[in-house]
Amino acid sequence: MRVGVLTGGGDCPGLNAVIRGIVRKGVQEYGYTFTGFRDGWRGALEGHAVPLDIPAVRGILPRGGTILGSSRTNPLRAEHGVRRIKENLAKAEVDALVAIGGEDTLGVAATLSGEYGVPCVGVPKTIDNDLSATDYTFGFDTAVGIATEAIDRLHTTAESHMRVLVVEVMGRHAGWIALHSGLAGGANVILIPEQRFDVEQVCAWVESRFRATYAPIVVVAEGAMPKDGDVVLKDGSRDSFGHVRLSGVGEWLAKEIERRTGKEARTTVLGHVQRGGTPSAFDRWLATRFGLHAIDAVRDGDFGKMVALRGTKIVRVPIAEATARLKTVDPELYAEAGVFFG
Ligand code: F6P
Repeated sequence: MRVGVLTGGGDCPGLNAVIRGIVRKGVQEYGYTFTGFRDGWRGALEGHAVPLDIPAVRGILPRGGTILGSSRTNPLRAEHGVRRIKENLAKAEVDALVAIGGEDTLGVAATLSGEYGVPCVGVPKTIDNDLSATDYTFGFDTAVGIATEAIDRLHTTAESHMRVLVVEVMGRHAGWIALHSGLAGGANVILIPEQRFDVEQVCAWVESRFRATYAPIVVVAEGAMPKDGDVVLKDGSRDSFGHVRLSGVGEWLAKEIERRTGKEARTTVLGHVQRGGTPSAFDRWLATRFGLHAIDAVRDGDFGKMVALRGTKIVRVPIAEATARLKTVDPELYAEAGVFFG
């Protein structure tokens, strides 16, 4: 049996740990051989295959990024995409494919598997933790750790200068990183995409914090939006790769806070720092286990499935279950954090 592996979407700490788990178990226990496809679905579409063996995965466990490269190419939008993928898999003599990725990458795997008979197994990846059907995705814990450390460090500047510090974290559609890092870092306001925020209320919290002679930290997810009546932050324009541009809610909010409260405010946008570098121990553990279970699914011929974490167990679920809807922050969970605001 020859198994193809690809990593798609934004890079994420733990991708290499998954690849290593798949290859180590596949070679050592099942005697499989492996082919990597470069840059996500683009490699499968263009036939860019590379050898993947035990020496190739040596030493990669703690390394961030992905040794296979990644892209956001969607082959279902390409001309004759499905036919080209099938031809390239046949040319590389690949019998099954493990696709490691988020909503888009897994959505393609679900379609290829369900509608076109391409044998795919999925592994869920995203720092945003917004994939349904799994309790956690790897990469999330690392991102939260990085954001929490940043918030910890920003407290000292906020206090020394008595400034409002706005920290913009990733999360276009879900506020998991904002909520977890905001709670862990002792933020005074946490704003998430799931609930539009009231700038007046944010300013009231900021002022109440100053009255208690502390300088506030505001954590805002990049996809958070003010209530109507305020500027529209997502202009809907796209960059040259077709990605929707966000226009900087953190910067906008700091300016609004300054204007409305007269307090000095600064913004820190954490950006891709949250996705870079070595994975946390938890993410290495989860990613490795996902890899080991993904190759078991291949061995069992259990295609169209994705490995998922439920409690402490790894289970298999239909890929489509994970991509059907995003896992967003429950309003009750968000309300819990509200006790620390202001
Ligand atoms: O999905 C992961 C993620 O990091 C999001 O949090 C973020 O909005 C997006 O990717 C950024 O994408 P890109 O790296 O393509 O700008």
